[in-house]
Amino acid sequence: MSAEADLAALGQRLLDPAAPPLERFAALEDDASDVRVFVAARHDVVSGVLSEEPVFSLRHYDELLEQVLPGTRYLVGEDDAARRVRLRQLHAAQAWLDARRNAPASGEPPNMAPGFRDWIGAIAREEADAILDVLQRRASTGEAVNFAREYAFLIAYRMARRIIGVPAPEKVPGLVKMIVIWRNVMRPGPWLRFKDELGDSVSMLVMLQPLFGHVFGTVVNSPSALQGLTRHTAAPALAAIEKALAAPESAPEDSLLSALVAVKPQFSDVADYNLQARSVLFELIGALVLIVGKSLSEIAAFAASPVGAAAGITWDNLVARLADRNISLKDHDATVNEMLRLAVSSRLTRTVRTDCQWRGVDLKAGDRVVVLMDPASRDPAAFAQPGQFNPDPARPYITSGPLQGPHVCYGRGIAWTIMREAIAATQGRIAPAPNTKIAIFAGLPDDLPFVACRR
Ligand code: HEM
Repeated sequence: MSAEADLAALGQRLLDPAAPPLERFAALEDDASDVRVFVAARHDVVSGVLSEEPVFSLRHYDELLEQVLPGTRYLVGEDDAARRVRLRQLHAAQAWLDARRNAPASGEPPNMAPGFRDWIGAIAREEADAILDVLQRRASTGEAVNFAREYAFLIAYRMARRIIGVPAPEKVPGLVKMIVIWRNVMRPGPWLRFKDELGDSVSMLVMLQPLFGHVFGTVVNSPSALQGLTRHTAAPALAAIEKALAAPESAPEDSLLSALVAVKPQFSDVADYNLQARSVLFELIGALVLIVGKSLSEIAAFAASPVGAAAGITWDNLVARLADRNISLKDHDATVNEMLRLAVSSRLTRTVRTDCQWRGVDLKAGDRVVVLMDPASRDPAAFAQPGQFNPDPARPYITSGPLQGPHVCYGRGIAWTIMREAIAATQGRIAPAPNTKIAIFAGLPDDLPFVACRR
């Protein structure tokens, strides 16, 4: 069995209530270091690891970023003074955007407020319609639509352009070009080209993907080849943000970038304001372009597959449900979360701070704990009939990270809104091709054939 298959089997074994909360998994360890690796899979254990920050730190994310892009940090990192500055920046920028829209106070945090989400939803509808207007012309020729590239990743990129406000670099870096050419040679079907916004979305994705692999895919050490690739691909994206911060007039007036520039006078105490703001924008662009595009593709692939039908959800069903304006936002969120639970899998890592015993397991400072979101999202102790589509706002959806504590996903309301609107907007416009199947390239969705519907 491969290490991946062993890890999946371990994930299943750890769901047994009688199994230990954590188990060591040497196949993820590195001969060159003495760091031990443990695995968590049960929902309650994964929840604990993700939210008990005094025991489990996020410092390896900081270290991995420092390796390739010195000075850059994510909010997903140690809760130090610089992170608190970035959080203040994000909250001040959000407040500035809310004030511009005269947003009424709601009982929700600003990033989850219904008014904010309505604003995101209206932009997402506009962007989805604009893309679908172009794709639907193919109804007359029968040319296939690549849902992943031409819809999911494109709308995710266009939303990042609109609400975050950073454009793709003017010049496509040479290495990015080579990666796309490699993809074009290896994959059947039309070539990806560097023109229009589709080209921008492709280059932005290629710039961010190695970085996400390096930061979120590394458990102990990242291979030096990946580090080199990451430096060359991610640095131009960071440079584009710096340039945009210096010329904010090129960004949409109601974007986060404009907001961060507008609130700068509130931060006279912060000497490296732009460095921290650059990090905030960089993290949000990555989450939007990469995670939303990937999740949307995977949700569509699941709903259009026999596995989705066996789980009780079809694509038509999903679209009709999300297009129904009589269903509450809470219930739409539950539908999107249920799809994320069934269709999307991920892993996160934490580092043990000090020698300790946690839930009866002896841990050493520096040990890594890998949490497997897939089994945690199908743990029968947390989800009755875990393989079935059964959306319920009361379910403890962990797919968007910790359910409480300082690292709750900031963009979950944005993501759920965009995905809802993107799926609903396809009604009567594009639909899965018969027997459609997702194709993966270099770890990301590359194609999911759809067809344009005749009006
Ligand atoms: C389907 C889409 C998304 C999924 C599945 C997702 C998932 C996650 C997960 C698992 C974490 C926790 C990471 C950890 O603790 O190690 C997280 C945190 C975060 N996410 Fe998301 N995310 C999504 C969309 C977004 C979007 C669109 C944005 C921004 C626009 C965003 C911004 C963030 C930020 C800033 C954090 C860090 C919070 C903190 O540590 O303070 N996410 N997300």
